[in-house]
Amino acid sequence: MRKFYLAVLYTGCAAWGSLAVRLGDERKLDNRFSSGTVRSNESWDGCTADQHVDTIGADVSLKGKVVLITGGDKGLGFSTAQALYARGATVVITSLSKAKGVLAAGSLGADVKAYHLDLGSLKGVRDFAEEYHKDFGEVGLDILINNAGISGNDGDFTTVDGYEGVFQVNYLGHFLLTELLMPALRNGHGRVINVASGMANMACSKADCLKDFSSLPPVEVGPDQTQYGLSKWLMIQHAAELAEREASNGVKAFSVCPGLVDTDMTRPYPSLKKSCVGPGAQSPCPYTVDQGSVITVYAALVADQPGWYRRWKQCTAGAVEMHGFTESMRPELYQKSRTWAGLLQVQSQSQSESQS
Ligand SMILES: NC(=O)c1ccc[n+]([C@@H]2O[C@H](COP(=O)([O-])OP(=O)(O)OC[C@H]3O[C@@H](n4cnc5c(N)ncnc54)[C@H](OP(=O)(O)O)[C@@H]3O)[C@@H](O)[C@H]2O)c1
Repeated sequence: MRKFYLAVLYTGCAAWGSLAVRLGDERKLDNRFSSGTVRSNESWDGCTADQHVDTIGADVSLKGKVVLITGGDKGLGFSTAQALYARGATVVITSLSKAKGVLAAGSLGADVKAYHLDLGSLKGVRDFAEEYHKDFGEVGLDILINNAGISGNDGDFTTVDGYEGVFQVNYLGHFLLTELLMPALRNGHGRVINVASGMANMACSKADCLKDFSSLPPVEVGPDQTQYGLSKWLMIQHAAELAEREASNGVKAFSVCPGLVDTDMTRPYPSLKKSCVGPGAQSPCPYTVDQGSVITVYAALVADQPGWYRRWKQCTAGAVEMHGFTESMRPELYQKSRTWAGLLQVQSQSQSESQS
């Protein structure tokens, strides 16, 4: 059963249509994203099927720009770090394992900085943000890539903060990180890129589970597909809301799906390659990391319009299932996320301290 879920999990970015047909699922895809702030960029053809990351925005210089990539020690994050370093950026990577981060940073370049960051701990995120501010001060952050992630919750992975693990590592940790780094992002008129997934379409095990907030934050340790899908769906909504809120501050936000990519995340499941077969399949499949990271680098360097960008076959895009959610609910989701991340408590605590 687990293998089935994982096979579904990695059907890539735009395979939802064919997957839905295969599963006999008649849910309608919500095309709201074509006209709303999370646009699906239907007409975008920014890359070819086998494009290599080196060729995206090759003429863009990042000299003097600071780029921070979570999960930059391996997989897609490492490939992205390599591509942006090659364009002259000051690159900062984070990883769960400090030792792996230091090793990866050394292989990228002597001036690449590595930090330990545990996205599964709110305190861990705060500690990292503090360290970052100490080291970089007021220097603007030009590109934040929320890339780190885990695929599923094998057992009962509840974080130290009491949240379901995938939700916190993939979504809430990145949400808090982005909030804490927002002053630096505003200084840099920066970009936020959330590495999401087309599996956002599988965020619900019951129809329209996001028509209200009753299933958030998730409490059940359910099938991998919904844990992962929900965390990625939230990342897409997060980028959409940020794009709107931060436009006047010069910050742009994007969400991307790299497709099915051969990494440590997918490698343990050879059956995933079954999704590479058939008329709706991604091609080539799976991508190498340097093909998969094309879309992240595209959002970092080239894309002008904030939105939802997907790497599938070429660089086409589809729509995201809304699961009963509406755009008008996004500001509330944002405020709730601030509460879940402990930001509102901290704010009201410091307000009452300053009043006393
Ligand atoms: N591969 C695909 O087919 C695919 C498809 C769609 C979307 N994505 C998304 O792409 C992103 C990168 O995935 P990948 O395939 O490159 O995976 P990967 O090779 O497994 O890399 C995952 C990264 O996340 C870090 N990480 C894991 N748990 C963490 C935690 N609690 N706190 C902080 N960092 C943590 C890891 O650090 P350590 O090395 O220290 O453990 C590692 O750097 C993920 O968000 C994934 O969901 C991947």
